Amino acid sequence: MAKVLLVDDERSIRITLSAFLEKENHEVVTASNVEDALSILDKEAFDLVISDVIMSGKSGLDLLKSVRDFGLDTPVIIMTGEPTIETAVMGIQYQASDYLSKPVERKEFLRVVHRVLNIKELLDEKKQLQIENEHYQKNLEALVEQRTAALLEASAGVVSLLAKVIEYRDPYTAGHQRRVGNLAAEIAVNMGLSNKQVEDVRIIGYVHDVGKIVVPSEILSKPGRISEVEMALIKEHAQAGYEMIMEAGLPQAFALAVGQHHERYNGSGYPNKLEHKDILLEAEILVVADVVEAMISHRPYRPARSLETAMQEIEQNKGILYDPEVVDACIRLLNQKDYTVDDTSHKVQITREEYN
Ligand SMILES: [Fe+2]
Repeated sequence: MAKVLLVDDERSIRITLSAFLEKENHEVVTASNVEDALSILDKEAFDLVISDVIMSGKSGLDLLKSVRDFGLDTPVIIMTGEPTIETAVMGIQYQASDYLSKPVERKEFLRVVHRVLNIKELLDEKKQLQIENEHYQKNLEALVEQRTAALLEASAGVVSLLAKVIEYRDPYTAGHQRRVGNLAAEIAVNMGLSNKQVEDVRIIGYVHDVGKIVVPSEILSKPGRISEVEMALIKEHAQAGYEMIMEAGLPQAFALAVGQHHERYNGSGYPNKLEHKDILLEAEILVVADVVEAMISHRPYRPARSLETAMQEIEQNKGILYDPEVVDACIRLLNQKDYTVDDTSHKVQITREEYN
């Protein structure tokens, strides 16, 4: 059952067509002119408008235009005894649903009405589905966003906990991880890496020495020379760090980079003597940042060296111990007048898009 607005200035036609429609269980409201029809449409919603074209006063085409100007997509059937080019053009322009020629014959009239109502039903269904789909999409997006944020927050928490634990046990490297992370991130920026890679490198730097937790603290804080056995114990921190990062549920690339932060470009590093082609870019950056930071910092067994000495070291071993591109980026960075290696807290911030 549909609600139909029937507009015709001839009373007999209104009565006849209303009877046809009511017999099919449709609800009919009639109007004898365009003004009345518009005021009715202003108050009530209809499934269908059927209008004569030529009436005293405004025409059915004016009504059609006004309906569309209102922003209504209600189907409109136009009835006319004298079809003209103007009727056809305006009918198309303002999306009339169909035409009926007068005099209207019952069977044809009902066929057209049912066809138009059927199309309307399909369009309504489609609209409803689109709304539901949009709603679903929005919910889904919100859910993904929530989970991603929760995951990142969890990682950030794990990272700062790991960083604190190691710095608490090993006061000499207090701040070292943070400075290495920040320096590595700046090198990554200088190399033109993506924001995500920059922040990944920073996080990796913040935890790269976490494996030192397996090294007895007497060895870590021992001033002066250390024995070969002690050195072997210290070297275990790279592999231990890899295992700890994996267990903490951080991304595998973080764990791999931590495990590789003492490997060297030419394969002379530890623990696995990996060569350049097998070392992650993140680790190559970390290596340079770690070396530079270590050299310019005070250690219990030696005083801090100058920035120039550190730059000389990486320049001399460029392509031997260190990745040339990383060295170039680091030198560019350190040559900037206002650059200082700092340990101020940088918020670990990664946007959702970058994680997708
Ligand atoms: Fe280390």
